Amino acid sequence: MNDSIDHGSPVKPPEYRQVVTPSDPLGTYDLGSKAEFWRLFWHPVCTLHELRAHCSGGRGPLQTTLLGERILVVDMGGAVRAFSDHCPHRGSSLSLGWLEKDTIRCRYHGWCFDSTGVCTEVPSLGAGEAIPARARLSTYDCQVAYDLVWVRMDGSAKTEIPRFPAWGDESQVCIMGQPYLWPASAGRRVENFIDVSHFPYTHQGTLGAPPLTQFPTFAVDQIAGELRWKTETFLAFNPGDATYGPPAGPDSTMLPPATYIVGMPLTVVLIFNWSKDKATQIFMHPTPIDSENCRSYWFTCHTADGSTDEEHLALQSIVLTEDLPVVASHLPRAIGQLRDEVSVPADKPVVFWRRWLWELIRASEDGGTAVRGALSVERIESELEVGV
Ligand code: FES
Ligand SMILES: [Fe+2]
Repeated sequence: MNDSIDHGSPVKPPEYRQVVTPSDPLGTYDLGSKAEFWRLFWHPVCTLHELRAHCSGGRGPLQTTLLGERILVVDMGGAVRAFSDHCPHRGSSLSLGWLEKDTIRCRYHGWCFDSTGVCTEVPSLGAGEAIPARARLSTYDCQVAYDLVWVRMDGSAKTEIPRFPAWGDESQVCIMGQPYLWPASAGRRVENFIDVSHFPYTHQGTLGAPPLTQFPTFAVDQIAGELRWKTETFLAFNPGDATYGPPAGPDSTMLPPATYIVGMPLTVVLIFNWSKDKATQIFMHPTPIDSENCRSYWFTCHTADGSTDEEHLALQSIVLTEDLPVVASHLPRAIGQLRDEVSVPADKPVVFWRRWLWELIRASEDGGTAVRGALSVERIESELEVGV
């Protein structure tokens, strides 16, 4: 065996291969949508670290899952690329194979494919026998941003990777979190993230507590493909300046005003504005593994202030642990129709998000251009200083 070849590691499965497969993996997504709709948008499929750490060469191949499909991620031909993880010969997983220079070789019968997905070698062919023209891989749009590998399976709506200016800003300290898989649809996770009225209960003692259960109604703006609003303060149990760590005691202080930005449909940025010069920004995107499971990619950036990574990660860990059982308990797992649930004024951001999502889903029936049009529809309730 040639030691220069990394033969891959089929014994290192990402954790979502262990997820119980939903009864209908290509079934109904949030608000009755289909996978075709979600293919129009960019989704992170792995962290750059996961790709680099997966095989000894640091270039993959790595198998991941997006919208019920196996995806092959590989650094080949000078760029990180994504293909359908499906060998055109007999349908085995190419991520079980290995890289040889800038080609990937299938573990089953050894066919080789280059960085454009074209088959360059079929070892069983005799002299003069041609490689079949249909022997090529399906390719997907692939980019690296914020140390995440993003994939868009359908480029017809010309959607963009959501912005996050704090990444790469030298005044900011950015910490990549460990992605987490939850048995909930991506939409359920977004709604959980943008909901503040659950703080006093789900996060009692961490981000709030009764009797402080009422929040002013926010002005919610729909602009430039983003839903944006500002909240006033939250009650928290982190006294003094210990604003990042786990709850320290019953002496409550207030978390600062916060700005929420949802890059439609699934990317949420939450900015805590501690002062004019100090902020913490949390980025989160739940990638639909399928209609009923999502894997959330996240990181946090904060103004350099001497706080440690551990402080930031510890608070996130507590909050996520508190959220998980609630979010995993939703029935149905994917969001149904608004009329099937009961909403109150505090649900305003969620209701606005569902309304816009519903408009995008309907526009997708008329093609990618219509989706772009629906993304650019503006409804302004207030002039908001976004602060990023
Ligand atoms: S299945 Fe890939 S080479 Fe045969
Ligand atoms: Fe929560």
